[in-house]
Amino acid sequence: MSPKKLIAVVGATGAQGGGLVRAILSDKSGEFAARAITRDVGSAKARELARLGAEVVAADVDDAASLERAFAGAYGAFCVTFFWAHFSPEKEMAEAANMAVAAKRAGVQHVIWSTLEDTRRWIPLTDDRMPTLQGKYKVPHFDGKGEANKTFLAEGVPTTLLHTSFYWDNFVYFGAGPKPGPDGVLALTMPMGDKRLPGIAAEDIGKCALGIFKAGTEHVGKSVYIAGEHLTGAQFAAKLTRALGREVRYNDVPPEVYRGFGFPGADDMGNMFQFKRDFNEDFVGARSVELSRRLNPELQTFDQWLEKNKGRIPLE
Ligand SMILES: NC(=O)c1ccc[n+]([C@@H]2O[C@H](COP(=O)([O-])OP(=O)(O)OC[C@H]3O[C@@H](n4cnc5c(N)ncnc54)[C@H](OP(=O)(O)O)[C@@H]3O)[C@@H](O)[C@H]2O)c1
Repeated sequence: MSPKKLIAVVGATGAQGGGLVRAILSDKSGEFAARAITRDVGSAKARELARLGAEVVAADVDDAASLERAFAGAYGAFCVTFFWAHFSPEKEMAEAANMAVAAKRAGVQHVIWSTLEDTRRWIPLTDDRMPTLQGKYKVPHFDGKGEANKTFLAEGVPTTLLHTSFYWDNFVYFGAGPKPGPDGVLALTMPMGDKRLPGIAAEDIGKCALGIFKAGTEHVGKSVYIAGEHLTGAQFAAKLTRALGREVRYNDVPPEVYRGFGFPGADDMGNMFQFKRDFNEDFVGARSVELSRRLNPELQTFDQWLEKNKGRIPLE
């Protein structure tokens, strides 16, 4: 039996990385082994990954030397950054550079970089249909990731640029789910007009990443765009109504209203939805559900995700 190829996974206790670690450990082919990277090997989540069969090691994406140790001997690495922990694209770019350099030094043969579009390719800073944020971004949590793509390419690391989609899990964890309006009726608020929002079950991102590793060199040096389904606000509301057994209305507000909601990052999220709405053909068109399902035959539809998760969506 040939030895398993080791995949070092950043963010292993989180949504994307956790999905990949679990996908590797439950993959019947047994082609890969998982090295889970965490800042705290003693946490409950880290110990659970060890119990499932992952090697668990400590590293921090802000500490280049720790990453190099964590990537040593790995065939592949899954790299992701954590915008909402600090709200800084510059920090994401520095962390991406740390990972790219560490992967290069460790001789990693295939990196998957979890990225998003640099929206400034579509809306230059001079375009005032949406405000410029933090001085030089339109959608800070997208733009820094997109700008960091070139870091991996410049290091000459064999990289797949994995463009993800809005997690449906945001309805559970991110406060993005339906909330009662003044009349008590649940409303799903998204400034998407009648356009479609590509979405995905967060755990399917890791499963797609495993599919990319399994495909060998096919996606190296390329961009891959994934989604589970492309749905309009009205379609989300209808599906939520059916699953929850309670009316959910789609509340289409203008992006400027959304930007003013006042929660941390509301301006970034408002710009994000506006970008996805105004450049919908490009944004949706890039994300092939068919390719995503080829990479991950278990890819969930929104209805399937809802059936499993409807009880976890906070409604009040
Ligand atoms: N929400 C969405 O719809 C969506 C869609 C597309 C892309 N994204 C992007 O996804 C990224 C976050 O990924 P995620 O959702 O998988 O994250 P997550 O679930 O929040 O998990 C983050 C994990 O990463 C680890 N971590 C945090 N800071 C770290 C550091 N400095 N060094 C090493 N590990 C660190 C933490 O583990 P330990 O505490 O164990 O170290 C944590 O469990 C964000 O940049 C976001 O923009 C989100």
